[in-house]
Amino acid sequence: MTITNDIKYVGVNDHDVDLFEGQYDVPNGMAYNSYVILDDKIAVMDTVEEGFGDEWLANIAAVLEGKKPDYLVISHMEPDHSANIKSFLEVYPDATVVGNAKIFTMMSQFFGGDITANKLTVSDKETLCLGKHTLQFIFAAMVHWPEVMVSYDSTDKVLFSADAFGKFGALDVEEDWDCEARRYYFGIVGKYGMMVQKLLKEVATLDVATVCPLHGPILTENLGHYIGRYDTWSSYRPENEGVFIAYASAHGNTKKAAQMLAAKLEAQGCPKVAISDLAREDMAECVEDAFRYDRLVLASITYNAGIFPCMKTFIDALTERGYQNRKIGFIENGSWAPMAKKIMQGMFEKSKNITFCEESVTIQSAVNAEAEAAIDRLAKELLNTAAAQPEE
Ligand code: FEO
Repeated sequence: MTITNDIKYVGVNDHDVDLFEGQYDVPNGMAYNSYVILDDKIAVMDTVEEGFGDEWLANIAAVLEGKKPDYLVISHMEPDHSANIKSFLEVYPDATVVGNAKIFTMMSQFFGGDITANKLTVSDKETLCLGKHTLQFIFAAMVHWPEVMVSYDSTDKVLFSADAFGKFGALDVEEDWDCEARRYYFGIVGKYGMMVQKLLKEVATLDVATVCPLHGPILTENLGHYIGRYDTWSSYRPENEGVFIAYASAHGNTKKAAQMLAAKLEAQGCPKVAISDLAREDMAECVEDAFRYDRLVLASITYNAGIFPCMKTFIDALTERGYQNRKIGFIENGSWAPMAKKIMQGMFEKSKNITFCEESVTIQSAVNAEAEAAIDRLAKELLNTAAAQPEE
């Protein structure tokens, strides 16, 4: 794949991965992207996941047509991009590995010592001239690890963006960018919104025509859309007006209440209602939906004097990612001592700018007329108040 006359794609598609990074379902696989810049000096940009070294090295050899690379630029030491540094150096021992000080520290940690005789340690904003192309390295700490840096080629106006602007899914599968990029963002980078904002400010000063991320498609058109999405996500603003209802139900009664609320909201013209069973649906998808919409309803049974485990996991996933600027309502169920609402609300104690609905629903075992009336009131409150101005 040709990115520009001088920049070629040499990455791989992974359809064997069961869980990406040990936890994320990737039904359409994963791409580990890598690029070659052909110039007076030749640079290879990052490596790929461990099991794909031979395929990646063959891709590089095909592009090089007998030439030797001068540099291997490492922008991120997470093993999905760094696992093949050693195998690269076995084939190209004279190449210089380019990274920052943190990258080289991690390289020693992962590989058990200094693995390269030739290394070039760069600092923030330092440049490396390849001939016609000059790479500028811009440190992007915590997008997604502390050592991360992105590279900008001003000649072809290409930003090598590391994990930023990546998505789940292999490149040989056609799918919508927003959905799987959002799930990827909030799953993997979502905690570090402020650091993403910092990077976006740097990117705004550059003339970028093409974004080459380490995962997902190369972005060449409508870059304002992708940058806009990243700006919304990293500033914790809701993307859409709507209500996401997440429920945890043991015997179906809490589920019934959640579905009843969804039906009432839809009947009364709520722009979007999404509903998920936390025990059965993909947790990363649920996290993504909680960040997507401006209102959230949590419905849980009381369990072991606490809340259902999947609800606890879900709320932890939100708060550790800095969930904020939203309105939250509650449905609780308890046959003898309902206390789920108090526990769920308490879990957001340290969260910024969360408004809780005044109305809440308490079910004792099963939905009765009194509970339905409370669901009605909660629906009305949710319809009449949005937490923050959504993007659309
Ligand atoms: Fe794709 Fe943070 O590694």
